[in-house]
Amino acid sequence: MKNALFRRKPIEDLLYQGDSKNHLKKTLSAFDLILLGVGAIVGTGIFILPGTVSALHSGPAIVFSFIIAAVVCALAGLCFSEFSSSIPVTGSAYTYGYIVFGEFIAWLIGWALLLEYGLAVASVANGWSSYLNALLSGFHIEIPKAISGPFNPTDGTYINIPAMFIIFLTAFLLTLGIRESTRINAIMVGIKIIVILLFIGVGVFYVQPANWEPFMPFGFKGVLSGAALVFFAYLGFDAVSSAAEEVKNPQRNMPIGIIGSLAICTILYVAVSLVLTGMVSYTKLNVSDPVSFAMQLVNQDWIAGIISLGAVVGMMTVILVMSYGGTRLLYAFGRDGLLPKSMAKLHDKFHTPVKNTWTFAVLVAICGGLVPLDKLAELVNLGTLLAFTMVSIGIIFLRKNKNLPSGGFKTPLYPVLPILSFILCIFLITQLSVHTWIACSIWFVIGVIVYFIYGRKHSEMN
Ligand code: ALA
Repeated sequence: MKNALFRRKPIEDLLYQGDSKNHLKKTLSAFDLILLGVGAIVGTGIFILPGTVSALHSGPAIVFSFIIAAVVCALAGLCFSEFSSSIPVTGSAYTYGYIVFGEFIAWLIGWALLLEYGLAVASVANGWSSYLNALLSGFHIEIPKAISGPFNPTDGTYINIPAMFIIFLTAFLLTLGIRESTRINAIMVGIKIIVILLFIGVGVFYVQPANWEPFMPFGFKGVLSGAALVFFAYLGFDAVSSAAEEVKNPQRNMPIGIIGSLAICTILYVAVSLVLTGMVSYTKLNVSDPVSFAMQLVNQDWIAGIISLGAVVGMMTVILVMSYGGTRLLYAFGRDGLLPKSMAKLHDKFHTPVKNTWTFAVLVAICGGLVPLDKLAELVNLGTLLAFTMVSIGIIFLRKNKNLPSGGFKTPLYPVLPILSFILCIFLITQLSVHTWIACSIWFVIGVIVYFIYGRKHSEMN
């Protein structure tokens, strides 16, 4: 049974499996991928984090935090590109792990991704709820405080009903198979970008350079811990790699899609945080809706309203894509026998995994309704960084596999770049708080128990 831990999926099975009718159609271009990426990436990270992170960690130097996090993501993104162009099958890092490291590590990577997707949905839903409140209060509609925040009796909030609502609404759309609609995604991405450009375009006239002094109030240490937090803002680009099966010419288009969406997001993030910290002193930014808050401060209430509306719409795509990722991961676990088969059962009429979608939604809604955003976001980052370390180092194992079709995208400067990516991810992990490590360890202990009690015995590989 010891070897069971290291049994690997033969790559040929994955690449050439099944009859052709089970293969997804290859329709996506590099441009579609960039749209998908920006749709999955831009959300809470830009509408909320620049406020709290600049107030408590980086100050106006949050721009450096964003750039550092972008570099780490770009390196990991290159490694993801190499994997997804060599093995263009669905399942992302979990599948890659199954091929290069064997079942047990693959399970742990998948378990980390489940944390990423699940809690990312919960925390973006939290952010969504803050902007919904801001939007509604513009119309003088107030959601009672007790039901619009995480469990925190001293503050008078008990449960975040709007956050739970959006999670369930998304689950409902996913069961209908709405994710297929790349057109809806394109429209929402368009709205998001217009709103962000509007903020930059209007805000720039209210910038007072005095607000940028001191630029680095918490020192470089603050910039680094800020980088570990704003890392969250880039999550979602790995979701692009899970579309690999549907991409035309993945060798060329995957890296363009991944790096392209990261580049666009970095430019937007840096511009927004420069304008935001220039408009309002970072000391005042510890609020839940900083971008519209800044507009209100300069008496641009209309613009603040439009931004809130855009944020509410824009964050929905992130929730949708991340929920999609989570349910498909559960599907893969069920299919491979690592979780009960019912997780991989498709609904007769809708052809979507209805059961796993609702399981996912209920668990995530409980977190989203009760736990505060910052706690959730840190944990998401840790889970994701762990998965990224495995993907980075996995490149070295991947290159040793001689059964792979050659000619795909190759990470440049091999092996320096994958190793650097690995080290940088570990470095960011060290910047997160000890509480987060403890919470994450508990999650992994549960994962190991589930594997030994269930997965190892029921695996399809038996
Ligand atoms: N990158 C996503 C966001 O910022 C998770 O909302």
